Amino acid sequence: MKASNYILPTAKEDPNDAVVASHKLMMRAGLIRKSASGLYHYLPLGFRVLKKIENIIREEMDLSGALEFQLPILTPAEIWEESGRWERMGKEMFRIKDRHDVNYSLGPTHEESFTSLLKPIFKSYKDLPKNVYQIHTKFRDEIRPRFGVIRSREFIMKDAYSFHNDNVSLDETYEVMRKTYRKIFQRCGLKTIPVQADSGSMGGSGSEEFMVVSPIGEETLSLCGKCDYSGNVEKTPVIIEYKTSHKSTKFEKIFTENIFSIDKLSEFFKTKSENFIKAVYLKADNKFNVLLFIRGDREVNDVKLNNFLNTTELRPLSEKECTELELVPGYTGPKKEFHKDIKVFYDITLDPNESYIVGANETNHHNKDFVISRDVSTEIKYRDFTKSVEGDLCPNCKSSLTQEKGIEVGHIFKLGDKYTKAFELKITDKNGKLFTPTMGCYGIGVNRTMATVIEQCNDQKGIFWPISISPFEVSLVSITKEEKDRIAVENIYNYLKSQSIEIFWDDRDLGPGFKFKDSEIIGFPIRITIGKNYFEKKEISILNRKSGIEETFIFDSNETLRDKILKLRNDLYLEISG
Ligand SMILES: Nc1ncnc2c1ncn2[C@@H]1O[C@H](COP(=O)(O)OP(=O)(O)OP(=O)(O)O)[C@@H](O)[C@H]1O
Ligand SMILES: [Mg+2]
Ligand SMILES: [Zn+2]
Repeated sequence: MKASNYILPTAKEDPNDAVVASHKLMMRAGLIRKSASGLYHYLPLGFRVLKKIENIIREEMDLSGALEFQLPILTPAEIWEESGRWERMGKEMFRIKDRHDVNYSLGPTHEESFTSLLKPIFKSYKDLPKNVYQIHTKFRDEIRPRFGVIRSREFIMKDAYSFHNDNVSLDETYEVMRKTYRKIFQRCGLKTIPVQADSGSMGGSGSEEFMVVSPIGEETLSLCGKCDYSGNVEKTPVIIEYKTSHKSTKFEKIFTENIFSIDKLSEFFKTKSENFIKAVYLKADNKFNVLLFIRGDREVNDVKLNNFLNTTELRPLSEKECTELELVPGYTGPKKEFHKDIKVFYDITLDPNESYIVGANETNHHNKDFVISRDVSTEIKYRDFTKSVEGDLCPNCKSSLTQEKGIEVGHIFKLGDKYTKAFELKITDKNGKLFTPTMGCYGIGVNRTMATVIEQCNDQKGIFWPISISPFEVSLVSITKEEKDRIAVENIYNYLKSQSIEIFWDDRDLGPGFKFKDSEIIGFPIRITIGKNYFEKKEISILNRKSGIEETFIFDSNETLRDKILKLRNDLYLEISG
Protein backbone atom coordinates (compact mmCIF):
# COMPACT_ATOMS: atom_id res chain seq x y z
CA MET A 1 0.00 0.00 0.00
CA LYS A 2 1.20 3.45 -0.86
CA ALA A 3 0.55 6.32 1.54
CA SER A 4 -0.16 8.59 -1.42
CA ASN A 5 -3.24 6.47 -2.14
CA TYR A 6 -4.28 6.24 1.47
CA ILE A 7 -6.32 8.33 3.89
CA LEU A 8 -4.00 9.02 6.80
CA PRO A 9 -5.27 11.85 8.98
CA THR A 10 -2.66 11.75 11.75
CA ALA A 11 -2.66 14.56 14.29
CA LYS A 12 -0.01 16.15 16.51
CA GLU A 13 -2.34 17.13 19.32
CA ASP A 14 -4.37 14.95 21.67
CA PRO A 15 -8.11 15.39 21.17
CA ASN A 16 -9.46 17.24 24.18
CA ASP A 17 -12.13 14.71 25.10
CA ALA A 18 -9.62 11.86 25.36
CA VAL A 19 -8.23 10.96 28.77
CA VAL A 20 -6.65 7.55 28.19
CA ALA A 21 -3.66 6.62 26.05
CA SER A 22 -5.50 4.28 23.68
CA HIS A 23 -8.21 6.82 22.91
CA LYS A 24 -5.67 9.60 22.30
CA LEU A 25 -3.46 7.43 20.14
CA MET A 26 -6.27 5.88 18.12
CA MET A 27 -7.42 9.38 17.22
CA ARG A 28 -3.93 10.76 16.62
CA ALA A 29 -2.79 7.81 14.52
CA GLY A 30 -5.87 8.25 12.34
CA LEU A 31 -7.37 4.87 13.25
CA ILE A 32 -10.78 6.16 14.35
CA ARG A 33 -12.88 9.30 14.33
CA LYS A 34 -15.74 10.12 16.63
CA SER A 35 -19.25 10.25 15.20
CA ALA A 36 -21.21 10.97 18.39
CA SER A 37 -21.04 9.98 22.05
CA GLY A 38 -19.87 6.36 22.19
CA LEU A 39 -19.93 5.99 18.40
CA TYR A 40 -16.77 5.72 16.33
CA HIS A 41 -15.89 5.48 12.66
CA TYR A 42 -13.05 3.13 11.79
CA LEU A 43 -10.72 4.49 9.13
CA PRO A 44 -8.80 2.09 6.86
CA LEU A 45 -5.79 1.68 9.19
CA GLY A 46 -7.97 1.08 12.25
CA PHE A 47 -10.26 -1.23 10.34
CA ARG A 48 -7.32 -3.43 9.36
CA VAL A 49 -6.45 -3.95 13.03
CA LEU A 50 -10.04 -4.79 13.87
CA LYS A 51 -10.18 -7.34 11.03
CA LYS A 52 -6.92 -8.93 12.12
CA ILE A 53 -8.20 -9.37 15.66
CA GLU A 54 -11.46 -10.79 14.29
CA ASN A 55 -9.52 -13.24 12.16
CA ILE A 56 -7.46 -14.48 15.09
CA ILE A 57 -10.65 -14.98 17.07
CA ARG A 58 -12.33 -16.72 14.13
CA GLU A 59 -9.38 -19.07 13.53
CA GLU A 60 -9.20 -20.10 17.16
CA MET A 61 -12.97 -20.47 17.56
CA ASP A 62 -13.16 -22.59 14.41
CA LEU A 63 -10.26 -24.69 15.65
CA SER A 64 -12.13 -25.29 18.90
CA GLY A 65 -15.01 -26.73 16.90
CA ALA A 66 -17.39 -23.78 17.28
CA LEU A 67 -19.67 -22.91 14.34
CA GLU A 68 -19.95 -19.39 12.98
CA PHE A 69 -23.37 -17.81 12.38
CA GLN A 70 -24.65 -14.37 11.60
CA LEU A 71 -27.89 -13.26 13.21
CA PRO A 72 -29.80 -10.00 12.73
CA ILE A 73 -28.75 -7.12 14.94
CA LEU A 74 -32.36 -5.99 15.06
CA THR A 75 -34.15 -8.35 17.43
CA PRO A 76 -37.91 -8.67 18.02
CA ALA A 77 -39.23 -7.63 21.45
CA GLU A 78 -41.13 -10.87 21.82
CA ILE A 79 -37.99 -12.95 22.42
CA TRP A 80 -36.89 -10.52 25.12
CA GLU A 81 -40.34 -10.71 26.68
CA GLU A 82 -40.09 -14.48 26.70
CA SER A 83 -36.87 -14.39 28.73
CA GLY A 84 -38.07 -11.55 30.95
CA ARG A 85 -35.25 -9.26 29.83
CA TRP A 86 -37.38 -6.71 27.91
CA GLU A 87 -38.03 -5.17 31.35
CA ARG A 88 -34.82 -6.13 33.11
CA MET A 89 -32.42 -4.72 30.50
CA GLY A 90 -33.77 -1.28 31.34
CA LYS A 91 -32.25 1.74 29.67
CA GLU A 92 -29.10 -0.02 28.50
CA MET A 93 -31.10 -1.58 25.65
CA PHE A 94 -31.70 0.53 22.54
CA ARG A 95 -35.33 0.08 21.50
CA ILE A 96 -37.13 1.00 18.31
CA LYS A 97 -40.54 0.56 16.71
CA ASP A 98 -41.18 -0.33 13.11
CA ARG A 99 -43.86 1.30 10.91
CA HIS A 100 -46.46 -1.10 12.32
CA ASP A 101 -45.67 -0.02 15.86
CA VAL A 102 -43.97 -3.33 16.67
CA ASN A 103 -41.13 -3.16 19.19
CA TYR A 104 -37.55 -4.22 18.48
CA SER A 105 -34.22 -3.83 20.15
CA LEU A 106 -30.75 -3.37 18.74
CA GLY A 107 -29.27 -6.49 20.29
CA PRO A 108 -27.01 -5.85 23.30
CA THR A 109 -26.30 -9.62 23.46
CA HIS A 110 -27.80 -12.66 21.73
CA GLU A 111 -28.75 -15.41 24.21
CA GLU A 112 -32.41 -14.98 23.28
CA SER A 113 -31.79 -14.92 19.52
CA PHE A 114 -29.61 -18.03 19.47
CA THR A 115 -31.81 -20.01 21.86
CA SER A 116 -34.99 -19.24 19.92
CA LEU A 117 -33.22 -19.94 16.60
CA LEU A 118 -31.91 -23.32 17.74
CA LYS A 119 -34.99 -24.47 19.63
CA PRO A 120 -36.73 -26.02 16.58
CA ILE A 121 -33.41 -27.29 15.17
CA PHE A 122 -32.16 -29.33 18.14
CA LYS A 123 -34.26 -32.47 18.51
CA SER A 124 -32.35 -35.10 20.47
CA TYR A 125 -29.39 -35.59 22.76
CA LYS A 126 -27.48 -36.71 19.67
CA ASP A 127 -27.56 -33.11 18.38
CA LEU A 128 -25.49 -31.87 21.33
CA PRO A 129 -23.02 -30.59 22.34
CA LYS A 130 -22.81 -27.60 19.98
CA ASN A 131 -21.00 -24.33 20.35
CA VAL A 132 -22.25 -21.50 18.09
CA TYR A 133 -20.84 -18.03 17.64
CA GLN A 134 -20.84 -14.82 15.65
CA ILE A 135 -18.60 -11.78 15.39
CA HIS A 136 -21.04 -8.95 15.09
CA THR A 137 -22.19 -5.51 16.17
CA LYS A 138 -23.79 -4.97 19.56
CA PHE A 139 -25.54 -1.91 20.92
CA ARG A 140 -25.63 -0.83 24.53
CA ASP A 141 -26.83 2.55 25.68
CA GLU A 142 -24.16 2.79 28.36
CA ILE A 143 -24.78 5.39 31.07
CA ARG A 144 -21.27 6.70 30.66
CA PRO A 145 -19.65 5.88 27.32
CA ARG A 146 -15.97 6.61 27.80
CA PHE A 147 -12.35 5.84 27.13
CA GLY A 148 -13.05 5.86 23.39
CA VAL A 149 -13.89 2.40 22.12
CA ILE A 150 -13.28 0.75 25.51
CA ARG A 151 -16.80 1.62 26.59
CA SER A 152 -18.76 2.63 23.54
CA ARG A 153 -22.40 2.32 22.60
CA GLU A 154 -21.87 0.38 19.40
CA PHE A 155 -19.15 -2.27 19.38
CA ILE A 156 -18.19 -5.60 17.94
CA MET A 157 -18.40 -8.66 20.09
CA LYS A 158 -17.54 -12.25 19.49
CA ASP A 159 -20.38 -13.95 21.29
CA ALA A 160 -20.61 -17.71 21.59
CA TYR A 161 -23.22 -19.93 23.18
CA SER A 162 -22.84 -23.64 23.86
CA PHE A 163 -25.62 -26.20 24.38
CA HIS A 164 -25.16 -29.42 26.35
CA ASN A 165 -26.89 -32.58 27.46
CA ASP A 166 -25.36 -32.36 30.93
CA ASN A 167 -22.93 -30.48 33.14
CA VAL A 168 -20.05 -32.81 32.33
CA SER A 169 -20.30 -31.81 28.70
CA LEU A 170 -20.63 -28.12 29.64
CA ASP A 171 -17.49 -28.42 31.78
CA GLU A 172 -15.61 -29.88 28.82
CA THR A 173 -16.53 -27.06 26.44
CA TYR A 174 -15.87 -24.50 29.17
CA GLU A 175 -12.35 -25.92 29.53
CA VAL A 176 -11.85 -25.75 25.76
CA MET A 177 -12.97 -22.10 25.81
CA ARG A 178 -10.62 -21.33 28.71
CA LYS A 179 -7.75 -22.57 26.57
CA THR A 180 -9.05 -20.94 23.39
CA TYR A 181 -9.31 -17.53 25.08
CA ARG A 182 -5.78 -17.76 26.42
CA LYS A 183 -4.60 -18.55 22.89
CA ILE A 184 -6.61 -15.72 21.30
CA PHE A 185 -5.29 -13.03 23.62
CA GLN A 186 -1.76 -14.35 23.39
CA ARG A 187 -1.92 -14.26 19.59
CA CYS A 188 -3.14 -10.65 19.81
CA GLY A 189 -0.05 -9.85 21.89
CA LEU A 190 -2.25 -8.93 24.84
CA LYS A 191 -1.30 -9.92 28.38
CA THR A 192 -4.46 -10.91 30.22
CA ILE A 193 -5.05 -12.33 33.66
CA PRO A 194 -7.90 -14.80 33.84
CA VAL A 195 -9.73 -14.21 37.11
CA GLN A 196 -12.47 -16.11 38.83
CA ALA A 197 -15.54 -13.97 38.56
CA ASP A 198 -19.01 -13.81 39.94
CA SER A 199 -21.23 -16.39 38.34
CA GLY A 200 -24.52 -15.47 39.92
CA SER A 201 -26.49 -18.47 41.03
CA MET A 202 -24.21 -20.96 39.22
CA GLY A 203 -21.52 -20.82 41.90
CA GLY A 204 -18.34 -22.88 41.81
CA SER A 205 -15.83 -22.13 39.12
CA GLY A 206 -18.54 -21.14 36.68
CA SER A 207 -17.16 -17.86 35.42
CA GLU A 208 -13.84 -16.47 34.33
CA GLU A 209 -13.08 -12.93 33.23
CA PHE A 210 -10.04 -12.08 31.12
CA MET A 211 -8.57 -8.93 32.56
CA VAL A 212 -5.98 -6.50 31.33
CA VAL A 213 -4.20 -4.91 34.25
CA SER A 214 -4.43 -1.15 33.83
CA PRO A 215 -4.81 1.86 36.10
CA ILE A 216 -7.89 2.90 34.10
CA GLY A 217 -9.64 -0.42 34.77
CA GLU A 218 -13.05 -0.35 36.35
CA GLU A 219 -12.75 -3.73 38.01
CA THR A 220 -10.56 -4.61 40.98
CA LEU A 221 -8.60 -7.83 41.00
CA SER A 222 -7.18 -9.74 43.96
CA LEU A 223 -3.88 -11.33 43.09
CA CYS A 224 -1.61 -13.66 45.00
CA GLY A 225 2.12 -13.31 44.43
CA LYS A 226 2.86 -16.75 45.91
CA CYS A 227 0.47 -19.08 44.15
CA ASP A 228 -1.34 -18.16 40.92
CA TYR A 229 -4.65 -17.22 42.53
CA SER A 230 -6.45 -14.33 40.87
CA GLY A 231 -10.04 -13.28 41.39
CA ASN A 232 -12.38 -10.38 40.95
CA VAL A 233 -12.71 -8.76 44.40
CA GLU A 234 -16.44 -9.28 44.17
CA LYS A 235 -15.83 -13.00 44.04
CA THR A 236 -12.68 -13.51 46.12
CA PRO A 237 -13.57 -15.48 49.25
CA VAL A 238 -12.58 -13.67 52.43
CA ILE A 239 -10.68 -15.76 54.92
CA ILE A 240 -10.25 -14.72 58.53
CA GLU A 241 -8.34 -16.56 61.20
CA TYR A 242 -10.38 -16.47 64.39
CA LYS A 243 -9.23 -16.32 68.00
CA THR A 244 -9.94 -19.40 70.04
CA SER A 245 -10.98 -17.66 73.24
CA HIS A 246 -11.92 -14.23 74.58
CA LYS A 247 -10.38 -12.10 77.27
CA SER A 248 -13.04 -9.78 78.66
CA THR A 249 -15.55 -11.06 81.21
CA LYS A 250 -18.54 -8.84 80.52
CA PHE A 251 -19.58 -5.86 78.41
CA GLU A 252 -20.05 -2.35 79.64
CA LYS A 253 -22.70 0.19 78.51
CA ILE A 254 -21.29 3.60 77.50
CA PHE A 255 -23.16 6.86 76.89
CA THR A 256 -22.47 7.98 73.30
CA GLU A 257 -24.81 10.88 72.70
CA ASN A 258 -25.21 11.65 68.96
CA ILE A 259 -22.19 9.56 68.08
CA PHE A 260 -22.94 6.78 65.67
CA SER A 261 -20.79 6.94 62.53
CA ILE A 262 -17.77 4.65 62.66
CA ASP A 263 -15.45 7.65 62.19
CA LYS A 264 -16.93 9.57 65.10
CA LEU A 265 -16.99 6.45 67.25
CA SER A 266 -13.33 5.73 66.48
CA GLU A 267 -12.48 9.23 67.60
CA PHE A 268 -14.59 8.95 70.73
CA PHE A 269 -13.27 5.57 71.82
CA LYS A 270 -9.75 6.29 70.51
CA THR A 271 -9.59 2.98 68.71
CA LYS A 272 -9.51 1.68 65.13
CA SER A 273 -12.65 1.09 63.07
CA GLU A 274 -11.94 -2.65 62.99
CA ASN A 275 -12.86 -2.82 66.69
CA PHE A 276 -16.50 -1.92 66.00
CA ILE A 277 -19.44 -3.83 64.60
CA LYS A 278 -21.45 -1.97 61.97
CA ALA A 279 -25.13 -2.70 61.44
CA VAL A 280 -26.29 -2.43 57.81
CA TYR A 281 -30.05 -2.37 57.15
CA LEU A 282 -31.18 -3.25 53.66
CA LYS A 283 -34.25 -4.04 51.62
CA ALA A 284 -33.56 -6.79 49.10
CA ASP A 285 -35.66 -6.69 45.89
CA ASN A 286 -38.31 -4.85 47.90
CA LYS A 287 -39.01 -8.25 49.40
CA PHE A 288 -36.95 -8.95 52.50
CA ASN A 289 -35.57 -6.81 55.29
CA VAL A 290 -31.96 -7.62 55.92
CA LEU A 291 -29.86 -6.72 58.94
CA LEU A 292 -26.21 -7.48 58.39
CA PHE A 293 -23.55 -7.14 61.06
CA ILE A 294 -20.10 -6.54 59.65
CA ARG A 295 -16.77 -5.33 61.01
CA GLY A 296 -16.50 -1.54 61.22
CA ASP A 297 -13.70 -1.27 58.68
CA ARG A 298 -15.33 -3.53 56.05
CA GLU A 299 -17.63 -2.98 53.09
CA VAL A 300 -20.68 -5.03 52.22
CA ASN A 301 -20.27 -6.90 48.95
CA ASP A 302 -23.62 -6.53 47.17
CA VAL A 303 -22.76 -9.27 44.69
CA LYS A 304 -22.17 -11.90 47.36
CA LEU A 305 -25.22 -10.82 49.35
CA ASN A 306 -27.53 -10.77 46.30
CA ASN A 307 -26.27 -14.19 45.23
CA PHE A 308 -26.94 -15.62 48.66
CA LEU A 309 -30.42 -14.09 48.86
CA ASN A 310 -31.15 -14.83 45.21
CA THR A 311 -32.06 -11.18 44.72
CA THR A 312 -30.82 -8.47 42.36
CA GLU A 313 -31.35 -5.17 44.12
CA LEU A 314 -30.38 -3.84 47.53
CA ARG A 315 -31.31 -0.49 48.99
CA PRO A 316 -30.94 0.95 52.50
CA LEU A 317 -34.02 0.79 54.74
CA SER A 318 -35.61 4.16 55.44
CA GLU A 319 -35.70 5.48 58.98
CA LYS A 320 -39.42 4.84 59.05
CA GLU A 321 -38.93 1.22 58.01
CA CYS A 322 -36.27 0.81 60.70
CA THR A 323 -38.61 2.14 63.36
CA GLU A 324 -41.39 -0.17 62.20
CA LEU A 325 -38.97 -3.06 62.55
CA GLU A 326 -37.98 -1.92 66.06
CA LEU A 327 -34.43 -1.12 65.00
CA VAL A 328 -32.59 1.81 66.56
CA PRO A 329 -30.80 3.47 63.64
CA GLY A 330 -27.21 4.29 64.50
CA TYR A 331 -27.32 2.24 67.68
CA THR A 332 -28.21 -1.25 66.49
CA GLY A 333 -26.00 -4.03 67.79
CA PRO A 334 -26.09 -7.83 67.90
CA LYS A 335 -28.67 -9.36 70.24
CA LYS A 336 -30.51 -12.65 70.58
CA GLU A 337 -33.86 -11.73 68.98
CA PHE A 338 -34.94 -9.22 66.36
CA HIS A 339 -38.33 -8.46 64.79
CA LYS A 340 -39.63 -11.55 62.99
CA ASP A 341 -39.66 -9.74 59.62
CA ILE A 342 -35.91 -9.24 59.60
CA LYS A 343 -33.35 -11.68 58.29
CA VAL A 344 -30.26 -11.24 60.45
CA PHE A 345 -26.79 -12.13 59.16
CA TYR A 346 -23.31 -12.01 60.63
CA ASP A 347 -20.44 -11.38 58.27
CA ILE A 348 -17.40 -13.62 58.17
CA THR A 349 -15.14 -10.71 59.21
CA LEU A 350 -16.62 -10.86 62.71
CA ASP A 351 -14.60 -12.96 65.11
CA PRO A 352 -16.93 -14.74 67.56
CA ASN A 353 -14.37 -14.35 70.36
CA GLU A 354 -13.20 -10.81 69.70
CA SER A 355 -14.27 -7.93 71.98
CA TYR A 356 -16.09 -5.29 69.96
CA ILE A 357 -17.81 -1.99 70.54
CA VAL A 358 -21.40 -2.40 69.32
CA GLY A 359 -24.70 -0.49 69.33
CA ALA A 360 -26.65 -1.15 72.53
CA ASN A 361 -30.03 -1.18 70.70
CA GLU A 362 -30.86 1.91 72.71
CA THR A 363 -30.51 5.51 71.52
CA ASN A 364 -27.25 7.23 72.54
CA HIS A 365 -25.65 4.06 73.91
CA HIS A 366 -23.01 1.57 72.86
CA ASN A 367 -21.71 -1.57 74.52
CA LYS A 368 -17.98 -2.03 74.95
CA ASP A 369 -16.18 -5.40 75.21
CA PHE A 370 -19.08 -7.16 73.57
CA VAL A 371 -18.28 -10.74 72.54
CA ILE A 372 -20.71 -12.36 70.11
CA SER A 373 -20.11 -15.95 71.17
CA ARG A 374 -20.67 -15.05 74.82
CA ASP A 375 -23.29 -12.30 74.56
CA VAL A 376 -25.44 -13.55 71.69
CA SER A 377 -24.82 -17.21 70.90
CA THR A 378 -22.17 -19.73 69.98
CA GLU A 379 -24.46 -21.09 67.28
CA ILE A 380 -24.19 -18.17 64.88
CA LYS A 381 -23.23 -18.90 61.29
CA TYR A 382 -20.77 -16.39 59.87
CA ARG A 383 -21.14 -15.88 56.13
CA ASP A 384 -18.97 -14.16 53.57
CA PHE A 385 -20.71 -10.94 52.43
CA THR A 386 -17.54 -8.84 52.27
CA LYS A 387 -15.38 -7.34 49.55
CA SER A 388 -11.87 -8.68 49.70
CA VAL A 389 -9.28 -6.01 50.50
CA GLU A 390 -5.53 -5.72 50.03
CA GLY A 391 -3.70 -7.78 52.63
CA ASP A 392 -6.49 -10.36 53.01
CA LEU A 393 -5.40 -13.99 53.01
CA CYS A 394 -5.15 -15.84 49.69
CA PRO A 395 -7.94 -18.44 49.56
CA ASN A 396 -5.45 -20.98 48.18
CA CYS A 397 -2.23 -20.50 50.10
CA LYS A 398 -3.08 -17.95 52.80
CA SER A 399 -0.32 -15.53 51.87
CA SER A 400 -1.21 -11.89 51.56
CA LEU A 401 -3.25 -10.70 48.55
CA THR A 402 -2.53 -7.57 46.53
CA GLN A 403 -4.93 -5.69 44.27
CA GLU A 404 -4.78 -4.25 40.77
CA LYS A 405 -7.26 -2.44 38.55
CA GLY A 406 -8.32 -4.32 35.46
CA ILE A 407 -10.25 -3.93 32.20
CA GLU A 408 -12.42 -6.89 31.20
CA VAL A 409 -11.82 -7.94 27.60
CA GLY A 410 -13.48 -11.33 27.67
CA HIS A 411 -15.81 -13.35 29.79
CA ILE A 412 -16.69 -17.02 29.84
CA PHE A 413 -19.64 -18.19 31.81
CA LYS A 414 -21.61 -21.29 32.67
CA LEU A 415 -25.15 -20.14 32.10
CA GLY A 416 -27.15 -23.20 33.14
CA ASP A 417 -30.70 -23.64 31.89
CA LYS A 418 -31.95 -20.08 32.30
CA TYR A 419 -32.54 -19.52 28.57
CA THR A 420 -33.32 -23.08 27.48
CA LYS A 421 -35.96 -23.10 30.22
CA ALA A 422 -37.37 -19.68 29.33
CA PHE A 423 -37.71 -20.74 25.68
CA GLU A 424 -38.79 -24.29 26.56
CA LEU A 425 -35.99 -25.70 24.45
CA LYS A 426 -36.38 -29.42 25.11
CA ILE A 427 -34.83 -32.40 23.41
CA THR A 428 -35.22 -36.15 23.86
CA ASP A 429 -32.84 -38.28 25.90
CA LYS A 430 -31.83 -41.92 25.19
CA ASN A 431 -35.24 -43.14 26.32
CA GLY A 432 -37.18 -40.63 24.25
CA LYS A 433 -37.99 -38.52 27.31
CA LEU A 434 -37.83 -34.71 26.99
CA PHE A 435 -35.26 -32.75 28.96
CA THR A 436 -33.86 -29.20 29.07
CA PRO A 437 -30.24 -28.78 27.92
CA THR A 438 -27.79 -26.60 29.76
CA MET A 439 -25.76 -23.70 28.29
CA GLY A 440 -22.51 -21.77 28.44
CA CYS A 441 -21.74 -18.35 26.96
CA TYR A 442 -18.46 -16.76 25.94
CA GLY A 443 -17.82 -13.13 24.91
CA ILE A 444 -14.90 -11.05 23.68
CA GLY A 445 -15.01 -7.34 22.97
CA VAL A 446 -13.15 -6.89 19.69
CA ASN A 447 -12.77 -3.09 19.78
CA ARG A 448 -11.96 -3.17 23.48
CA THR A 449 -9.26 -5.75 22.78
CA MET A 450 -7.75 -3.40 20.19
CA ALA A 451 -7.76 -0.46 22.62
CA THR A 452 -6.30 -2.43 25.52
CA VAL A 453 -3.45 -3.64 23.30
CA ILE A 454 -2.63 0.04 22.77
CA GLU A 455 -2.89 0.65 26.52
CA GLN A 456 -0.16 -2.00 26.94
CA CYS A 457 1.87 -1.17 23.85
CA ASN A 458 2.62 2.53 23.75
CA ASP A 459 5.48 4.86 24.54
CA GLN A 460 6.08 8.58 24.25
CA LYS A 461 6.34 8.26 20.46
CA GLY A 462 3.08 6.43 19.97
CA ILE A 463 1.87 2.88 19.47
CA PHE A 464 4.07 -0.18 18.97
CA TRP A 465 1.78 -2.87 17.61
CA PRO A 466 2.29 -6.55 18.26
CA ILE A 467 3.13 -7.73 14.75
CA SER A 468 0.10 -10.06 14.60
CA ILE A 469 -2.44 -7.23 14.63
CA SER A 470 -0.48 -4.29 13.26
CA PRO A 471 -2.28 -2.52 10.39
CA PHE A 472 0.76 -3.39 8.25
CA GLU A 473 3.72 -5.46 9.37
CA VAL A 474 6.34 -3.29 7.68
CA SER A 475 6.55 0.36 6.77
CA LEU A 476 8.91 1.76 4.20
CA VAL A 477 9.90 5.38 4.61
CA SER A 478 11.63 6.80 1.56
CA ILE A 479 13.23 10.17 1.18
CA THR A 480 13.84 10.97 -2.43
CA LYS A 481 14.44 14.11 -4.39
CA GLU A 482 14.61 12.93 -7.96
CA GLU A 483 12.24 10.82 -9.99
CA LYS A 484 14.95 8.20 -10.71
CA ASP A 485 15.43 7.69 -6.95
CA ARG A 486 11.73 7.29 -6.50
CA ILE A 487 11.69 4.63 -9.19
CA ALA A 488 14.56 2.79 -7.48
CA VAL A 489 12.56 2.69 -4.22
CA GLU A 490 9.46 1.62 -6.07
CA ASN A 491 11.36 -1.36 -7.46
CA ILE A 492 12.37 -2.44 -3.96
CA TYR A 493 8.81 -1.89 -2.73
CA ASN A 494 7.36 -3.96 -5.58
CA TYR A 495 9.83 -6.74 -4.93
CA LEU A 496 9.03 -6.92 -1.18
CA LYS A 497 5.31 -6.89 -1.96
CA SER A 498 5.79 -9.75 -4.39
CA GLN A 499 7.39 -11.71 -1.52
CA SER A 500 4.14 -11.46 0.48
CA ILE A 501 5.55 -8.87 2.83
CA GLU A 502 2.74 -6.70 4.13
CA ILE A 503 4.23 -3.32 3.45
CA PHE A 504 3.08 0.28 3.74
CA TRP A 505 5.20 2.65 1.69
CA ASP A 506 5.24 6.25 2.79
CA ASP A 507 5.89 7.72 -0.65
CA ARG A 508 4.35 11.09 0.16
CA ASP A 509 6.11 14.26 -0.80
CA LEU A 510 6.89 15.22 2.79
CA GLY A 511 9.97 15.83 4.92
CA PRO A 512 11.69 12.93 6.73
CA GLY A 513 10.77 14.21 10.22
CA PHE A 514 7.11 14.18 9.40
CA LYS A 515 7.24 10.69 7.90
CA PHE A 516 9.21 9.22 10.81
CA LYS A 517 6.79 10.72 13.31
CA ASP A 518 3.79 9.27 11.49
CA SER A 519 5.37 5.86 11.25
CA GLU A 520 6.17 5.93 14.97
CA ILE A 521 2.79 7.11 16.16
CA ILE A 522 0.99 4.58 13.98
CA GLY A 523 3.34 1.98 15.36
CA PHE A 524 4.36 -0.29 12.48
CA PRO A 525 6.60 -2.89 14.15
CA ILE A 526 9.25 -2.84 11.40
CA ARG A 527 10.41 0.26 9.55
CA ILE A 528 12.71 0.30 6.56
CA THR A 529 14.38 3.59 5.77
CA ILE A 530 15.69 4.37 2.29
CA GLY A 531 17.05 7.88 2.01
CA LYS A 532 20.13 9.91 1.24
CA ASN A 533 22.52 7.26 2.59
CA TYR A 534 21.09 4.72 0.21
CA PHE A 535 21.60 6.87 -2.84
CA GLU A 536 25.10 7.89 -1.70
CA LYS A 537 26.42 4.62 -0.21
CA LYS A 538 23.70 1.94 -0.57
CA GLU A 539 22.86 2.03 3.12
CA ILE A 540 19.43 0.87 4.29
CA SER A 541 18.19 0.83 7.90
CA ILE A 542 15.71 -1.50 9.53
CA LEU A 543 14.15 -0.38 12.78
CA ASN A 544 12.48 -2.54 15.40
CA ARG A 545 9.88 -0.03 16.58
CA LYS A 546 9.36 -1.62 20.00
CA SER A 547 12.99 -2.07 21.03
CA GLY A 548 14.19 0.99 19.15
CA ILE A 549 17.10 -1.06 17.79
CA GLU A 550 18.01 -0.03 14.25
CA GLU A 551 20.25 -2.07 11.99
CA THR A 552 22.02 -0.36 9.13
CA PHE A 553 23.60 -2.40 6.34
CA ILE A 554 24.85 -2.11 2.81
CA PHE A 555 22.21 -3.17 0.32
CA ASP A 556 23.56 -5.81 -2.03
CA SER A 557 20.40 -7.50 -3.25
CA ASN A 558 16.65 -7.54 -2.84
CA GLU A 559 16.95 -11.04 -1.41
CA THR A 560 19.25 -9.97 1.44
CA LEU A 561 16.84 -7.18 2.36
CA ARG A 562 13.91 -9.59 2.22
CA ASP A 563 15.67 -12.13 4.41
CA LYS A 564 16.55 -9.53 7.03
CA ILE A 565 12.92 -8.42 7.18
CA LEU A 566 11.62 -11.96 7.33
CA LYS A 567 14.04 -12.77 10.14
CA LEU A 568 12.92 -9.78 12.20
CA ARG A 569 9.28 -10.50 11.36
CA ASN A 570 9.75 -14.06 12.55
CA ASP A 571 11.46 -12.94 15.77
CA LEU A 572 8.60 -10.58 16.48
CA TYR A 573 6.08 -13.39 16.02
CA LEU A 574 8.12 -15.59 18.34
CA GLU A 575 8.11 -12.83 20.95
CA ILE A 576 4.31 -12.99 20.98
CA SER A 577 4.01 -16.75 21.13
CA GLY A 578 6.41 -16.73 24.10
N1 LIG B 1 -19.78 -0.80 26.04
C1 LIG B 1 -18.86 -1.62 25.58
N2 LIG B 1 -17.94 -1.20 24.68
C2 LIG B 1 -17.00 -2.02 24.19
N3 LIG B 1 -16.91 -3.32 24.56
C3 LIG B 1 -17.79 -3.81 25.44
C4 LIG B 1 -18.80 -2.98 26.00
N4 LIG B 1 -19.54 -3.74 26.87
C5 LIG B 1 -19.00 -4.97 26.84
N5 LIG B 1 -17.96 -5.03 25.99
C6 LIG B 1 -17.12 -6.19 25.65
O1 LIG B 1 -17.94 -7.34 25.46
C7 LIG B 1 -17.50 -8.41 26.29
C8 LIG B 1 -18.63 -9.32 26.71
O2 LIG B 1 -19.73 -8.59 27.20
P1 LIG B 1 -20.30 -8.70 28.69
O3 LIG B 1 -21.77 -8.58 28.63
O4 LIG B 1 -19.69 -9.85 29.41
O5 LIG B 1 -19.68 -7.33 29.25
P2 LIG B 1 -20.04 -6.54 30.57
O6 LIG B 1 -19.97 -7.47 31.71
O7 LIG B 1 -21.26 -5.73 30.37
O8 LIG B 1 -18.75 -5.58 30.58
P3 LIG B 1 -18.60 -4.30 31.50
O9 LIG B 1 -18.63 -4.80 32.90
O10 LIG B 1 -17.30 -3.71 31.10
O11 LIG B 1 -19.78 -3.41 31.18
C9 LIG B 1 -16.81 -7.71 27.44
O12 LIG B 1 -15.86 -8.56 28.03
C10 LIG B 1 -16.16 -6.52 26.77
O13 LIG B 1 -14.92 -6.89 26.19
MG1 LIG C 1 -21.76 -3.76 30.83
ZN1 LIG D 1 -1.94 -17.81 47.06
